[in-house]
Amino acid sequence: MVGFTFRGGRLACDDVPVEDIARETGTPAYIYHAGSIRAAHATLDAAFAGYPHAMHFALKANSTLAILRLVRGLGAGADANSGGEIEAALRAGFEPAQIVFTGVGKTRDELDRAVALGVRAINIESDGEAERLDGLARARGVKVRVALRVNPDIDPNTHAHISTGLRVNKFGVPIEFAPPLLRSLARRPGLDPVGLHVHLGSQILDVEPLGRAARALAGLAREVRDAGVRLEHIDLGGGLGVAYDGTTGADPAAYAAAVLPAVRETGLTLLIEPGRFLVAPAGILVGRVADTKAYPGSPRFVVLDAGMTELLRPALYEAYHRIVAVTPREGPASPCEIVGPLCETSDTLGHDRALGPVEVGDLIAVLDTGAYGFVMASNYNRRRMPAEVLVDAGGWRIVRRRQTYEDLFRNEE
Ligand code: LLP
Repeated sequence: MVGFTFRGGRLACDDVPVEDIARETGTPAYIYHAGSIRAAHATLDAAFAGYPHAMHFALKANSTLAILRLVRGLGAGADANSGGEIEAALRAGFEPAQIVFTGVGKTRDELDRAVALGVRAINIESDGEAERLDGLARARGVKVRVALRVNPDIDPNTHAHISTGLRVNKFGVPIEFAPPLLRSLARRPGLDPVGLHVHLGSQILDVEPLGRAARALAGLAREVRDAGVRLEHIDLGGGLGVAYDGTTGADPAAYAAAVLPAVRETGLTLLIEPGRFLVAPAGILVGRVADTKAYPGSPRFVVLDAGMTELLRPALYEAYHRIVAVTPREGPASPCEIVGPLCETSDTLGHDRALGPVEVGDLIAVLDTGAYGFVMASNYNRRRMPAEVLVDAGGWRIVRRRQTYEDLFRNEE
């Protein structure tokens, strides 16, 4: 695996200069490196080797079909969070039995679709959802495989917006209500409780809370199995963090060491739902400098043709992404604000960054944007969704063309 490196003073992906790609696709564009995804998958898979496990890629991180086909080819399953993500998984070739369906507020139509398909598990969020799902399954004369999403009230030490396993968060059923609910699920003719599910949050760098969640679920599994509920799996969700600052991300081996002892005692199959870890470092967002300005008393601004419409993370979470010139020019670096073209001050991709000289037309790359990048893009300001490119085995191809203005107005009267 090579990935994104500077070669002869120019950013390249494997052997392909990013400039060459951008010249053909235009900007903004996302570029993904297949080898990085394969390598991340292999590392994570190896950490759990020796224990029965399955990886269900969290489609919310990146559901571009070419990426999904690649991940499926590695033997992973899918974690879908909406009807649209189920559809994406199916179109990418995942079998229903490889899909788990999670999400707060699943609609009746979404649930019914998952029931009809016969997915590996629908992760139930509440008593009410259990009842509705039971009704849908009975109407179809089937028993649907379900897991109970438990809220363990554990702080994953990450950004509050992406923390999901605290009592005050909307996700799952508080753990002390889980045993009676699981017993009642087992009594419902339409439901087959096969698993327990938890997801603490995202961009988690400290594996200790993940270990605690595994122990909490293992304890719950023992309790309800003693009460006669047959279980097959424990699903620990996603959450492994990556090194956005280029230092060290979460360590898969440490993650496995933190969760496996408790899971092993149950003998249940382990499911994990990694999203970011598999794809974030494998992607960059490339934009061009559209303007520069520096007036006394104001910061130096580098204005790109890419902004919060292409990459929302900095505006939404004050997320940090490294930003580099694709072909750095000679000269001293100075602090600047790297901003987008939208009519919002929050449209800042990089605050107070040291960047060398840049000129209008230069290419700039925002790193580690393969996860929660394109999927969170929008048409705000009537901007068109960017193109996406996959670099694989030394070659590259456009896997999603840039939206056209025709696309933009297609659904309107
Ligand atoms: N499973 C469930 C049930 C989830 O809710 C999530 C993410 C994942 C798995 C995957 O988590 P990961 O391995 O990617 O951390 N937009 C935010 C991240 C939101 C994550 C939501 N849930 C961001 O850009 O940081």
